[in-house]
Amino acid sequence: MRYVDQMDIEGKRVLLRVDLNVPLDGGRVADDSRILAVLPTIRHILERNGRLIITSHLDRPGGKRVPGLSLRPVSERLSDILGKEVAFVEEVVGPDVSEAVGAMSPGSAIMLENLRFEPGEEKNDDALSKALASHADVYIDDAFANAHRSHASNVGVTKYLHDKGGGLLFKRELEMLEGALETPERAFVVVIGGAKVASKIGVLEHLSRRADRMLLGGTMALPFLKAGGAEVGNYALDERTIDQARSIMEGAGEDCIVLPVDFVVASGEGAAARVVSADDIEPDMQIGDIGPRTIEAFALEIENARTVVWNGPMGMFEMESFSRGTRSVAEAIARSPAFSLAGGGDTNRALDRYGLREEISYVSTGGGAFLEILAGRELPAVQALESTGGPERA
Ligand code: 3PG
Repeated sequence: MRYVDQMDIEGKRVLLRVDLNVPLDGGRVADDSRILAVLPTIRHILERNGRLIITSHLDRPGGKRVPGLSLRPVSERLSDILGKEVAFVEEVVGPDVSEAVGAMSPGSAIMLENLRFEPGEEKNDDALSKALASHADVYIDDAFANAHRSHASNVGVTKYLHDKGGGLLFKRELEMLEGALETPERAFVVVIGGAKVASKIGVLEHLSRRADRMLLGGTMALPFLKAGGAEVGNYALDERTIDQARSIMEGAGEDCIVLPVDFVVASGEGAAARVVSADDIEPDMQIGDIGPRTIEAFALEIENARTVVWNGPMGMFEMESFSRGTRSVAEAIARSPAFSLAGGGDTNRALDRYGLREEISYVSTGGGAFLEILAGRELPAVQALESTGGPERA
């Protein structure tokens, strides 16, 4: 795959797809880390006199204009950070965009409205791809966090703009993730928690063939415990995930999968949280966190690691009584001299809550895209950037 730093963009019209799907609060950007992550690419293009057309989605407006999901506040925040105006165009395609692009001088930038206001974006609609491509000479995709989607602005558009490549964030994300997964220094320890069992079990299947240890917390541990015959409280597990867990355990090396030996639970509304052994879980119990003996065992594994990959909290960490497991695991990873890689929305929130983001070797901007790579799957956006097919030009 080619990247922007290997391409000639001097004076050209550059369509840049980024992922500025940032949280807003009262019409202002509440967390600008995804903006900061794409600044190197933006600066690179502007310094080479590119005429920069920035596109992104924001949230899930479902193909219609939702005023509270306009990208205008994001363009204002970017302008502040750059110290340079990024003019906002209230459309994604159409005459207003053509006019704004036509009036651009070299080294200037505009931002288009939320791509997902267009019904064709998530359908990878050909007409929208073609219209987007018609504004530019070069296409750069730096929206790593959106790379698991096949949408008009990141996949379809590449059929019509053959001078295409990845941005600098995309490059770094792939280098960091592929490096950690393909040539990890050992011991290679993977820590997986969170609640999206059905969508994440494929990740475990793939990683169980690579990792020396997989430490499972949160809901992710439950199908494995159930497959081993244990009770998992009042959580309704999909039978298929239990079968998948069984087959992962059968295929994984001995000692690879490390399950919690105790939990913090509550029985019923308003009941006090207490610690119980994994063997003593009862059907009416709500599991909220991993327990102290598990924390100790996980921390020891992390201490002995040379590579650690982390996704997903160990429990309901937003609630004080169920936060210790996630906090302790985050602290153990932060303390460890291992190369550490973390990703995912909740994982990012936990790192911010405990002020540990800077202690992690690399924090991915991706959620779903990060998990797709952990699961060993190809990202549609990467395939689109690598593809040489498509005779058409916009
Ligand atoms: C993300 O936040 O992970 C990306 O922006 C993708 O968002 P989506 O899940 O709404 O497609």
